[in-house]
Amino acid sequence: MPLLKIDSKEFEVENGTTVLQVAEANRIEIPHYCYHPALEIVGSCRMCLVQVEGMPKLQVSCNTFVSDVSSDRKVDGKYDMVVHTQNDLVVQERKNILEFLLLNHPLDCPVCDQAGECYLQDYSFKFGNAHSRFDENKRVRPNEFLGSQIVINHNRCIMCSQCVRFTQEISGTSELFVEARGYNSKIAVLEDNPLDNLLAGNVADICPVGALLSTDYIHKNRIWNLKKQPSVCQDCSVGCNVDVFSQTDQILRLTARENLDVNGYFMCDIGRYGFHRYEEIDRVLQPMVRKGDSFVSADWETAIQKTIDLIKKNKSNTAGIVSPFHTNESNFLLGQIFKDVLGSLPPITGEEITYPSGFRISADRSPNTRGMNDICEGIVEDLASKIKTQDIRTLFILDDGVDRKLDDKWKKIIGKMDSVIVLSYAMTDLAKLAHVVLPGYAPLEREGTITNDKGRIQWLRPSLPVKVESKPDWEILMLVRNALDKKTEHFVELGEVMKKMGEKFENYAGITFFKVGNQGYSINGKSS
Ligand code: SF4
Ligand code: SF4
Ligand code: FES
Repeated sequence: MPLLKIDSKEFEVENGTTVLQVAEANRIEIPHYCYHPALEIVGSCRMCLVQVEGMPKLQVSCNTFVSDVSSDRKVDGKYDMVVHTQNDLVVQERKNILEFLLLNHPLDCPVCDQAGECYLQDYSFKFGNAHSRFDENKRVRPNEFLGSQIVINHNRCIMCSQCVRFTQEISGTSELFVEARGYNSKIAVLEDNPLDNLLAGNVADICPVGALLSTDYIHKNRIWNLKKQPSVCQDCSVGCNVDVFSQTDQILRLTARENLDVNGYFMCDIGRYGFHRYEEIDRVLQPMVRKGDSFVSADWETAIQKTIDLIKKNKSNTAGIVSPFHTNESNFLLGQIFKDVLGSLPPITGEEITYPSGFRISADRSPNTRGMNDICEGIVEDLASKIKTQDIRTLFILDDGVDRKLDDKWKKIIGKMDSVIVLSYAMTDLAKLAHVVLPGYAPLEREGTITNDKGRIQWLRPSLPVKVESKPDWEILMLVRNALDKKTEHFVELGEVMKKMGEKFENYAGITFFKVGNQGYSINGKSS
């Protein structure tokens, strides 16, 4: 293995590793713009220049590969390469490049959405000059829409071409290109081929400066006001890792979080903008009990007692309906209460799309079908028939939520029941048919584990505060379970439910939030 020296540190590295990769892996900061680990190397921005001993000019570290050299070419008799990242030559060249990049930049950081997470700001502060020598007129270009949700501020663009390569290599849609050359060059789209593919939002994430902006977030807030919560997208069974940004009780944006075993560095726009569908919903924030054609609110004690009375009336003719939109822990508890007949409603599906890079949007638009099937024994295949043959009169339903549109067949089946108890966060089609509605948490408020379609258990973390009298779904199910059977164990925290789940299902043995961590845990024992 070649021996590399960066400044005063030595590294044994794989043949063919770049200097920038070694530096990044070892927390040696080399500023860079055009390099992205998921994209082809172009070495165009020159920001990552370093000095390599024996080479006449500074070299771009993102495109300088370390390899074994013959013993007569080794530096100091032992190094295959010696690199300087901090000497006067490198420091001066960084200043020059930053000065060049800022020549036509409007320096409008106070109104730029990237402020606070901008590499032009950060590198200028750290490596740049305090003053500009440029006193000519700046080139000024108007903003343009590249697609329905992406705007470009050309004046801030540093022509790193990451966005262009993204559409060529990751989405494979090639909408973006560099128009013209040199001083006149700019990022462009053809009028009849706008940037409207389902991965388009990623270009705003990967743009290292404030040039590409999502219309969904533009001028909405300042990044330092927002709370950032690592979590998992719940809009399909891939389970992309995301960061959820919120302020008090409002979600402002979602961005992709790196997980090479799941989504790489990216996410799709279904998941990115999906949180908006929870904004205008008819939230259920108190237990509701049917009175004639309408509902009256009740306290928890009354609602749970009513639930128990309804279940006991038809105990042997009661079925539980689990949900692929809920966590493993909630489904597990429901499965433990209604062991005789357990089912789920028909899957909610969309188009399955796989991009040239391998990035996938699953046809299964629920996040936890795999987990639900793993930890609920005996889910019947045809619930509608089972309801008929077993003369089911009472249903306890874990509601899929606002994505579930009930068709006439299911409206009829549910409408015929003696009693329907629905655990939901909104007055959905299902909740409207209930006799008791128990108010649980909405998707972005929940905590628990979900398992993606490749068998990776992931940590769903709460991104929003609790609303009024709603309770965590698993706690509501515990109340029902304990009220039905006083002798059953009482779990006071989610970890205890996970432990019990692990005792029953081998694949989930020993699962804790600590074990799942930020990157998830594969039940296949390998990357998935
Ligand atoms: S718009 Fe952003 S990502 Fe695209 S070339 Fe300009 S700076 Fe790079
Ligand atoms: S691919 Fe699926 S999990 Fe990933 S962001 Fe899109 S909807 Fe969410
Ligand atoms: S990051 Fe190396 S040249 Fe741009």
